[in-house]
Amino acid sequence: MLCEYYDLASTSGDDAFSVDASNITFGPGCLREAGDVARSLGISRIAVFSDASLARTEHVEVVLTSLRAASVDVALYDDVRVEPTDESFKAGTKFAADADVDGFISVGGGSVIDTAKAANLYSTHPADFLAYVNAPIGAGTAVPGPIKPHIACPTTSGTGSECTGIAVFDLLEIKAKTGIASKMIRPDRALIDPNVTATLPANVVASSAFDVLSHALESYTARPYSQRPAPGAPSLRPSSQGANPWSDLGCGEALRLIGLFLERGVADADDTEARHQLLWASTLAGIAFGNAGCHVPHAMSYSVAGLVTDYCPHGWPQGAPIVPHGMSVIVNSPSVFRHTAAGHPQRHLDGAQWLGADVSDIGPDEAGPVLAEQVIALMQATDMPNGLTGVGYTAADVPVLVEGSLPQRRLLDNAPIEIDRETLTTLYEGALTYWE
Ligand SMILES: [Fe+2]
Repeated sequence: MLCEYYDLASTSGDDAFSVDASNITFGPGCLREAGDVARSLGISRIAVFSDASLARTEHVEVVLTSLRAASVDVALYDDVRVEPTDESFKAGTKFAADADVDGFISVGGGSVIDTAKAANLYSTHPADFLAYVNAPIGAGTAVPGPIKPHIACPTTSGTGSECTGIAVFDLLEIKAKTGIASKMIRPDRALIDPNVTATLPANVVASSAFDVLSHALESYTARPYSQRPAPGAPSLRPSSQGANPWSDLGCGEALRLIGLFLERGVADADDTEARHQLLWASTLAGIAFGNAGCHVPHAMSYSVAGLVTDYCPHGWPQGAPIVPHGMSVIVNSPSVFRHTAAGHPQRHLDGAQWLGADVSDIGPDEAGPVLAEQVIALMQATDMPNGLTGVGYTAADVPVLVEGSLPQRRLLDNAPIEIDRETLTTLYEGALTYWE
C-alpha cells in the first residue's frame, strides 16, 4: 500500500504521515468503567457534559453512578445545545470555569462532545473566542499546551467526534458553521458502548450512518499526504494530513460494514448486530478521518446546516428548524463524488464496491457516477432527503450556499481536485435533486 503513495508523491509533498491513535474502549456496558477511567486519569472533580433530554436517560445515570462509586466529585452540565453555537460554547466554558473541575466527561452526540472540548480548551487556556477558531474566520492560533483530561462517551453512531481534535459550531454573526481544529483537544479516552444504539430512532440512525459513510469516503478519496505541502516543522503536521495507509484501513472496513448493515440497522431497532456494527463502523471511520481529514461534502454541509429556514425532520426535538449533520453532509456527497472521481478514479470504484456495487465491468470514466448511484440507492432505501430540495432549498439558494462554504479552506484544500467558486456552484446545482 505504501508503494501507491510513493507513486503519487510530488516533489513538494510531505514525505511522512503521522498516526495519532485514539485511546478507545469498545463494548456493551463499558460506560460502567467511567469512574475507574476518571480515577486513572487523576481526576477528582469532573464536569459531566450532556443535554437536557440525554440527562434523563439511563446512559447518563450509569456514568454518574460509576463516577460516584469511584469517589469522583461530579458537576453536571445538561444545558448543551444540539448544533452548538459560539454562545453555547461560551456558556459551557463559563460553567466549567465556575465549577473548578480537573477533568471532563461528555455523554452524548457530537454536539455534546464538541462542547466539552471547547469548554475544556477555553477554561484551561482563556483567550478571545476567535483566537483558536480556524482561519480565515478566526485567527487559527495554536493551542498553547495540553488541556484537562476528557473522556468522551458517544451516544449516537455517527460523528466520530470522540476520535478527533475538531469542535464544530455555528458562528451566529455570520450564520455559518466553522470549527476549532487541534490535536490538543482530542479526547484522552473514549468509552464506546453499543448499548446506547438500542433506543435511537430510525431517522437518527440513518443520518448518523451517512455521516460515517461520508467520513470514510472523503478520507479515502482525500488528496494523498504525499501530494500536500510539507509542514514547516514536523510538529505542525495537521491532523487533516490527507489520505494515508493508516486511514485507508479504517475507511475500507467502515464502508464494507455500512454496505452490509445500514438498511438493517435503520429498519429494525431490535437488530442488535446491525446497530453494534454501525457503531463500530463509526469508530473506524472516526479514527480514519481524525488522521486524514474530510473534504468537500463536509465543507458544503456547513452552509446547508447553517442557513436552514424551516426543515424539521422526524426523530429530533421539535422547536427549531434543523438539518441534522449527517443529512447536511449526505445531500452533497453524490454530486461531489461524481466530480472528484477525476482526481483518483480507482479510489472511487473501491468505495462503490465496498458499499455493495458490482464494479467488475466499470471503467475509470464511470467511477464517479457509479459511486454516486450507490450512495443515492442507500439514501432512497433509508428515507433520506432527496438532495438539497429535500431539506428546503431551491436553485435560487445556490449562490448563498456557495458563499457559506468558500471559507472552509481546510476542507476544500483536502479534495483530490481543485475547488473554487465555480466548482462549488456546479456541485450545489448537482445536489439539488437526485431522484424523481
Ligand atoms: Fe461529519
